[in-house]
Amino acid sequence: MLPFVFVLGLFERVGEVTGEEAMELLRVPLVVVFVVGCFWVRWVSGFEAWNVSEFSSVDGGVSPNDSLMVNLTLIPSAAAKGAVCLDGTVPGYHIHRGSGSGANNWLIQLEGGGWCNNIRTCVSRKTTRHGSSNYMEKILPFTGILSDKPDENPDFYSWNRVNLRYCDGASFTGEGQNEAAKLYFRGQRIWQAGMEELMSLGMRNAKQGIAKSVGDWYFERSEVKAIDCPYPCDKTCP
Ligand SMILES: *[C@@H]1O[C@H](CO)[C@@H](O)[C@H](O)[C@H]1NC(C)=O
Ligand SMILES: *[C@@H]1O[C@H](CO)[C@@H](O)[C@H](O)[C@H]1NC(C)=O
Ligand SMILES: *[C@@H]1O[C@H](CO)[C@@H](O)[C@H](O)[C@H]1NC(C)=O
Repeated sequence: MLPFVFVLGLFERVGEVTGEEAMELLRVPLVVVFVVGCFWVRWVSGFEAWNVSEFSSVDGGVSPNDSLMVNLTLIPSAAAKGAVCLDGTVPGYHIHRGSGSGANNWLIQLEGGGWCNNIRTCVSRKTTRHGSSNYMEKILPFTGILSDKPDENPDFYSWNRVNLRYCDGASFTGEGQNEAAKLYFRGQRIWQAGMEELMSLGMRNAKQGIAKSVGDWYFERSEVKAIDCPYPCDKTCP
């Protein structure tokens, strides 16, 4: 059920950007491209077994060496809003500005990376890129849907393209903290701070927008694939 909660959560949070920003954002025809199947049962039950080192290969991928490389931008103002990663560091994103006919179109990719689901696994994330901006790559290749090359990315190459980094442990949801373990669960605030930042960079003038989130923590996991079927899958879903 969780991946679908996330989809709904995305829509819900679009409505919660609040006030004038919500009005602005809702003017944007927002399409959520969410690549999920009906694998949630196994995702939930099998999650504990997936350790952090396994993630490192998941959404990095191989990039051709002529890829556009885009620097990480931190959001220092997020700290005052309590919008922090699991370890208390500020969140960040990578952006490549649109141009020409794409100058007022925005594509937001929410980085994937699965959830941590207890104190132990969340604590171990504090020393990874999925729990701390101290450990995030300072520069990332923009390939595929983020590419600036018309032949590789014909629909969006000229749009404003953003990769919002994921470091809250619960897919941009959640609100809380654990004093004893010094863990911050601030996914909701990170989403909000990220959207406010992008609004200030011109997303409030957006004519078209797409938010993309890929359950890339799921793909490449053979034991999960073994019990599931490709999307759309409705035969074996409970
Ligand atoms: C994490 O996964 C890697 C690769 O599967 C494995 O080599 C390593 O021993 C695992 N670490 C823990 C703590 O389970
Ligand atoms: C990367 O660059 C090297 C040297 O220019 C070249 O030999 C290699 O084929 C390139 N790799 C890719 C994936 O483009
Ligand atoms: C990216 O960061 C590097 C290292 O700090 C810097 O030299 C470079 O100018 C930056 N590139 C852009 C486009 O800001």
